[in-house]
Amino acid sequence: MNSLVTLALAAAAVAVPVQPRGGGDDYLVSLGPRPYYIINNMTDGPLKTKLQSCENLPQTINKFSIGHRGGGTLQFPEETKQDEDAGARMGAGILECDVSFTADRGLVCRHSLCDLHTTTDILLRPELASKCTTPFTAANDTADANALCCTSDITKAEFSTLCGKQDGFNASATTPEDYQHGTPDWRTELYDTCGTVLTLDEYIDLVDSYPGHRDFTPELKTPPAQVPMPFSSAYVQNYTQQEYAQDMVDAFRNKSIDLSRVWPQSFTYSDIVYWLNNDHEFGKQAVYLVEFDTPADLLAGTNNLTVAKAAGVNILSPALPMLLSEGGPDNKTIVPSAYAHAAIAAGFDIIAWTFERSGPLATVKAREEYYFNSIANITSYDGQYYEVLDVLVNQIGIIGLFSDWSATVTYFANCFGLKGPVGGSYT
Ligand SMILES: *[C@@H]1O[C@H](CO)[C@@H](O)[C@H](O)[C@H]1NC(C)=O
Ligand SMILES: *[C@@H]1O[C@H](CO)[C@@H](O)[C@H](O)[C@H]1NC(C)=O
Ligand SMILES: *[C@@H]1O[C@H](CO)[C@@H](O)[C@H](O)[C@H]1NC(C)=O
Ligand SMILES: *[C@@H]1O[C@H](CO)[C@@H](O)[C@H](O)[C@H]1NC(C)=O
Ligand SMILES: *[C@@H]1O[C@H](CO)[C@@H](O)[C@H](O)[C@H]1NC(C)=O
Ligand SMILES: *[C@@H]1O[C@H](CO)[C@@H](O)[C@H](O)[C@H]1NC(C)=O
Ligand SMILES: *[C@@H]1O[C@H](CO)[C@@H](O)[C@H](O)[C@H]1NC(C)=O
Ligand SMILES: *[C@@H]1O[C@H](CO)[C@@H](O)[C@H](O)[C@H]1NC(C)=O
Repeated sequence: MNSLVTLALAAAAVAVPVQPRGGGDDYLVSLGPRPYYIINNMTDGPLKTKLQSCENLPQTINKFSIGHRGGGTLQFPEETKQDEDAGARMGAGILECDVSFTADRGLVCRHSLCDLHTTTDILLRPELASKCTTPFTAANDTADANALCCTSDITKAEFSTLCGKQDGFNASATTPEDYQHGTPDWRTELYDTCGTVLTLDEYIDLVDSYPGHRDFTPELKTPPAQVPMPFSSAYVQNYTQQEYAQDMVDAFRNKSIDLSRVWPQSFTYSDIVYWLNNDHEFGKQAVYLVEFDTPADLLAGTNNLTVAKAAGVNILSPALPMLLSEGGPDNKTIVPSAYAHAAIAAGFDIIAWTFERSGPLATVKAREEYYFNSIANITSYDGQYYEVLDVLVNQIGIIGLFSDWSATVTYFANCFGLKGPVGGSYT
């Protein structure tokens, strides 16, 4: 053995061992290289020093870290078993399933009722493709390729035969095969190897099976205009939004999941009010999602924060750009927005979304990337991911953050000793 190898082995022997963590099982939380890459790209200062001080500490599961559509969505097909597995492995303490319904009133994990044509291989399955609300039409000289396939077009059993893939499509496609591609180049199709789609029941069992006692965050998706409610099909008649909201509760109750582990979400305020009034155990931990993109909506949304608070909503969940502004001398500093101050003043706990969905920060301004649009003028390098997270945590005081790459958030949360939302603590 040459002396360099001996030295390396000696160094390895004294390095801090990484302890398996999670429920006492032999389950190793594994963060991979990305947090280190981001830290290395930070501007020198106290925040960078603090984060560097955690580089060799053991990592634990952390409920501050919420796996968005699974938690490995930056690389893995969203809402699949492989995506949940990735988020769980990267220490996400809460894992998401977006809940959509099928023609036969089944509940399945899909981010939109009508995204099957871009997130699955349905167009390659002629017998199912023919059931799509809008079957595939090829691009030609005057029109893009087109399709619209909804979970409500097929049964739960049919849904379960699909393969999950990266959300993307090729507008120039002349065949369904070509239409499958179109993933942004900073994502990857490496794992488009027939991702395992999940029903809500399968997701509950899966998340419950991970070591470390994870929590659930199901989001009741608001059906788009193409799927008017109440919904009728060959299998159901006049299925109402309230029945749908109740079905999501019942899926957890039927499996005897302790509801202190469940953080139900919706953008539709009436869903939140329904849970608060009809199943308070469920509603008191509900996460009211908000996205106001115009100044008028933002103003209305700011003015009515007190309405939601008075109705008993405890947790507010705004999009990242609503929480951040350019400020300080010359507008060169990332600061909490006026909306963030209003939400804090109204007394909400805040969970934000979505981290790691934006690709390289050097190009967010040119790409008019949604999540950084309120600070795009002063965003230009990836080290700023942690500067943003520092403002969210240490100036706004958010209690959780959805992320497409859970490791990035788990690392920060563990380094700062964050705990995330505490189940059972709300009334
Ligand atoms: C961060 O990365 C950018 C490239 O995106 C580079 O220009 C800059 O020098 C890097 N900063 C540090 C501190 O490494
Ligand atoms: C192009 O496609 C559109 C939509 O499918 C169709 O309405 C139109 O007739 C097509 N045009 C030609 C020249 O084929
Ligand atoms: C998109 O479809 C067009 C037409 O079939 C094809 O020429 C092109 O290579 C496809 N692009 C991708 C990224 O697959
Ligand atoms: C569904 O709603 C329609 C229209 O309101 C009504 O005519 C029909 O009787 C309803 N069907 C059931 C089974 O409730
Ligand atoms: C819950 O269980 C009841 C009784 O078995 C059943 O009728 C219902 O369909 C179940 N609901 C869901 C959403 O699982
Ligand atoms: C507050 O206003 C926004 C924007 O108009 C609206 O979408 C939302 O439903 C309102 N929320 C409440 C609690 O009234
Ligand atoms: C900072 O930006 C705000 C909003 O765009 C603007 O009203 C303000 O004048 C700017 N302040 C400075 C110092 O440039
Ligand atoms: C970014 O800079 C442009 C051009 O200077 C300015 O018009 C715009 O208001 C700025 N955006 C924000 C959010 O301050």
